Amino acid sequence: MAQNQKARETAAIILQAMKDRRSIRNYTGEAIPKEDLELIVEAGLTSASGHADYPWDIVVVQDLDTVHKLAGARAGSANMLKNAGAAIVVTADEQFSTWIEDCSIVLTNMHLLADAMGYGSCWIQIRMRPDAGGGNAEDFVRSLVKVPDGFRVEALLSIGVPEKEKTADDAARQAKRAGFAAEKVQYQ
Ligand SMILES: Cc1cc2nc3c(=O)[nH]c(=O)nc-3n(C[C@H](O)[C@H](O)[C@H](O)COP(=O)(O)O)c2cc1C
Repeated sequence: MAQNQKARETAAIILQAMKDRRSIRNYTGEAIPKEDLELIVEAGLTSASGHADYPWDIVVVQDLDTVHKLAGARAGSANMLKNAGAAIVVTADEQFSTWIEDCSIVLTNMHLLADAMGYGSCWIQIRMRPDAGGGNAEDFVRSLVKVPDGFRVEALLSIGVPEKEKTADDAARQAKRAGFAAEKVQYQ
C-alpha cells in the first residue's frame, strides 16, 4: 500500500504507463517537434547512475536523412528508422564501470516517456552488434553522428508518430507480461 492517497494515485499512473508501453516499429515518417524531443530527453536525464557518475552523453538526431541512414546500423533490426521522425543515440565513457547499466536506464526512461506521450519508440541495440554490411555497428553510427571522442555507443532509440493505434496484439503482449507475475516471480 502506497504511503498516502496522493502517492497511490501517482503510483497508479506510472504503473499504467509501464503496462501500456510497447516497442513500436511502424511510423508515419513525420518529424518529431523539438520541444517533444526535449521532454523525452528530460526523462533520460532523471536516470539513476552508479556513483552518480552520469558517464553518458545523449545525441539527438533530428535530420531525417541521417535518421533514415541510421537504419543501416543493423541488418534488419533497425529498419524502423527508415520511417522514424527522430533517433536518440545513447553513448558513454566506458571507463565508468556501470556505463552499460547507466545507458540502459536512460534508454528505458526515454522509451517509457515517449510511449506515454503517444509516440512509438523502440530500443535498437548497437553495442556488440554488426551493421548491415557486416562491419561494427558502433563505427557505423559514428560515421553518421558525432559521438564524443572515445565514447562507446550502447543503443539508439527510434521515435516516430505511430502508423496505427495499439492493437489486440499489444493487448496480448501486455497480458503475457502480466502472466510473468505467476511464472517468474517468487516471494521468499
Ligand atoms: C536490450 C534490448 C535490445 C533491443 N534491441 C532491439 C533491436 O535491435 N531491434 C528491435 O527491433 N528491437 C529491439 N529491442 C526491443 C525488443 O525486441 C522488445 O522489447 C521485445 O520484443 C518485447 O516487446 P515490448 O517491448 O513491446 O514489450 C530491444 C530491447 C532491449 C531491452
